Amino acid sequence: MESLKTRKITSVWIVIVLALFIVAIILGILMRLNQGTIIQQSPVTFYGNMTTHGLTMIGIWFVAGMAAVNYLMERYVKTSYGVNLFALICTIIGVLMLWSSTFIGHFHAGWTFLYPLPFKVAWAQWATPVFLSSLVVLGVGWLVWSVSLMSQILKKYTLSQAFAWQHFKKNPAVETPPFILITMVTLVGVIACLLAAVLLLVLLFAEYFSNGSFVNDAAAKNLTYFFGHTIANEMLYLGLAVIYELFAEVSGRPKWKTTWYVAVAWNLSLAFILTAFFHHLYMDFVQPEGLQIVGQLASYLASLPAAGVTVFSILVAVYRTKINWSLTNLLFFIGVAGWVIGGLGAVIDATISNNFVLHNTLWVPAHFHTYNAMGNVLFSLGFFHWFAHKFDVGFYIDKNAMLKLTLILFGGIGFLLAFYIGGADSIPRRYSNYPPEFTMAAPLATVAAVFATFYLLAILLFFLNITKNV
Ligand code: HEM
Repeated sequence: MESLKTRKITSVWIVIVLALFIVAIILGILMRLNQGTIIQQSPVTFYGNMTTHGLTMIGIWFVAGMAAVNYLMERYVKTSYGVNLFALICTIIGVLMLWSSTFIGHFHAGWTFLYPLPFKVAWAQWATPVFLSSLVVLGVGWLVWSVSLMSQILKKYTLSQAFAWQHFKKNPAVETPPFILITMVTLVGVIACLLAAVLLLVLLFAEYFSNGSFVNDAAAKNLTYFFGHTIANEMLYLGLAVIYELFAEVSGRPKWKTTWYVAVAWNLSLAFILTAFFHHLYMDFVQPEGLQIVGQLASYLASLPAAGVTVFSILVAVYRTKINWSLTNLLFFIGVAGWVIGGLGAVIDATISNNFVLHNTLWVPAHFHTYNAMGNVLFSLGFFHWFAHKFDVGFYIDKNAMLKLTLILFGGIGFLLAFYIGGADSIPRRYSNYPPEFTMAAPLATVAAVFATFYLLAILLFFLNITKNV
């Protein structure tokens, strides 16, 4: 059973995530308004906002998934409150350091801080080390949290049971719940990419303090994308673990069990997700050709098993069955659709021949915003809503349910379409001001800002309704 302390700290996580989300969305809308020439920001402000927006978003939706998984894991194994609190403190300190480096020090190298940008200092001298140190603080907090959760799983399940290998055969003696399997697979990926981040930061600090005499750009780029691509995908899997645990429960259906194909699919996902990042380096021609091919194959294979079994499980659960629909399982259901659609957009871009056309166009933010803003965010909102509902102390949490859903769908779809149309029209990403040759770019950005404001309204309503209860 979940302890009172875990419940309280989960509430704190939820409030912090939603508050930071609101700020990060506002930064996103400001970027679109600037690209639409409705407001005028200097490029330094634009790229500072872009860096803050990107990293804050990745960070909050990662910790939102971790907090939910930590809370639900107490159904199976005990978890450490101290470590959870440590991760919370590191996250708060890390975000404050990150924001000071961008808002005060004007660091603006993008959320991928792609090598060698952090060293091309176009901001306060101190901002580079403070930015890199903020990543160290965040990384250490999250690494300790991930290792702690994994070690708790391994106290109850053997390694092979945690990966559900006994389910490859019929009638296993021990059952591994899908929640444990997916969490285990995900934590391996998270720990691997956080360790890569540590190594990357060591390399970057070494270059910084050696004044450029120690250089390793190929390793730095590969490590950057291994970290960035992997964490952005693993945080989705945290959300999926929550769905496997809660979807049937809130729908009034029998709990999902691990079958042989669920076990096989998730074990395959583990292998493929760790090698898919090579698709970010298609345009880096020094990269050995073999790795590019691995990147394309893994990009296809990483998405198929997990998406296949999850979509199959959800469809079987709802097809011709009486479901107790609520805001929670509706958010889960729509979120899975968003995840799959965004995933298809990603696979299109990760195909080498298409990448020649779509590389670094608005197609890139189009697909990753689809599986984040209309996928993973909905997974976590579903959890937040379920959590707040569980501890409803008299406030009417379901208030505005349809309004919130309509706003999020209407705003989200319109905002995303503007990215997709821009990408298909070869409009480049990460431009603070578009050259006049891109005639559609500014009008599309303005329309996107309007739609994103509807999305923001939905999130404000979620914030007001949920924070009253947690
Ligand atoms: C309605 C909500 C959102 C708005 C208005 C918004 C807006 C934007 C805009 C305008 C950009 C720059 C696009 C470009 O020209 O390259 C951007 C980039 C980005 N956004 Fe969002 N976004 C939203 C939600 C999210 C969510 C939920 C995530 C979750 C992970 C996210 C993560 C990112 C990342 C990682 C970048 C890349 C930053 C970089 O290139 O350094 N955004 N967003």
